[in-house]
Amino acid sequence: SRVIKLAVIPGDGIGPEVVGEAEKVLDAVTAASDVTFDKARFSLGAARYLETGDTLTDDDLAAIATQDAILLGAVGGVPGDPRLKDANIERGLLLKLRFSLDHYVNLRPSKLYPGAPGPLAEPGEIDFVVVREGTEGPYVGNGGSIRTGTAHEVANETSVNTAFGIERVVRYAFEVAQKRRKKVTLVHKTNVLVHAGGMWKRIVDAVASEHPDVTVDYVHIDAATIYLVTNPGRFDVIVTDNLFGDILTDLAGAVTGGIGLAASGNINPDGAFPSMFEPVHGSAPDIAGQQKADPTAAILSVALMLDHLGLSGEAARVTRAVEEDIAHRGSTPRTTAQVGDAIAAAVQA
Ligand code: NAD
Ligand code: IPM
Ligand code: MN
Repeated sequence: SRVIKLAVIPGDGIGPEVVGEAEKVLDAVTAASDVTFDKARFSLGAARYLETGDTLTDDDLAAIATQDAILLGAVGGVPGDPRLKDANIERGLLLKLRFSLDHYVNLRPSKLYPGAPGPLAEPGEIDFVVVREGTEGPYVGNGGSIRTGTAHEVANETSVNTAFGIERVVRYAFEVAQKRRKKVTLVHKTNVLVHAGGMWKRIVDAVASEHPDVTVDYVHIDAATIYLVTNPGRFDVIVTDNLFGDILTDLAGAVTGGIGLAASGNINPDGAFPSMFEPVHGSAPDIAGQQKADPTAAILSVALMLDHLGLSGEAARVTRAVEEDIAHRGSTPRTTAQVGDAIAAAVQA
């Protein structure tokens, strides 16, 4: 039998609530199989910082790096909490994990499941995948400010884009497209960000020439937000930079039934480091501790994890159970645990 070492990072706010349900479903889907998940829990996030002053120590990182995969809820304290003024949990924990573990593919599928509530009157079929670059762009922390706090302050936040970094994520996007409807859309802002955008465009065109059966198009980020609402069916695989991908995938979550359904994987395709699976949403301090959070995004992130680990049968069972649950959701609100229980029961049925 196969033993998979799993780091579990529940995190802050609704993180522990949704991860609890995701674990329930993981336990249910592996109950009768010959795979065992050997879980190591890591207490990380705002709560840990407030207790110890640590965000992510070298020891934490080293221990996490030896696992086979990571399941994360969400991190981030209550915005405006004065005790977190000097902490940057998002950079010091989440981005540190993504960068250190070379999660250069941030995979964010968007699918409108039958019965899912959506804001669009006539959504048509929505089924696309955003391949968001995960280790570069404006996220690298290459910036600083001078004359800070004065009327003459200057603040820079430089977007870092490397040919190596773009090519590897673009290649991944084409591989994903080959297994889908064979269409890749580059989303950027080449009309203004001519240097970075120009390089993205050139690399996409070069990789495209190796994939003559894949249709390639280009859409500016601002227009992409229009099409995501007016004609989401035009997208199959979107490849884009770290920041554009962040923004676009919250919108994608909203048009496919809500952010509570949006799953993601931070993938290191080379397998040199464990990949990390987490809902797209954050710690939602506004609803934390109230059993109001939808755990479906965390549960679908488990499905992405199972797929990544080669357990496609188990992954399909989770996805099918979620699909059934969504199809039968009535208008009566359920608690976080009730949704998890229903999906866990359905994977075993
Ligand atoms: P958020 O995603 O936490 O919340 C945005 C809105 O969506 C809120 O109204 C919230 O109630 C709702 N929502 C989120 N998840 C939901 C769920 N599962 N079910 C139902 N409703 C849900 O974004 P935010 O408010 O901008 O950020 C809150 C904190 O989370 C910040 O500290 C932010 O930095 C952090 N954050 C962390 C991650 C992460 O850990 N991956 C991602 C995004 C934001
Ligand atoms: C996400 C989040 C993170 C991001 C933040 C919390 C660093 O918004 O996972 O989408 O911007 O990538
Ligand atoms: Mn985001």
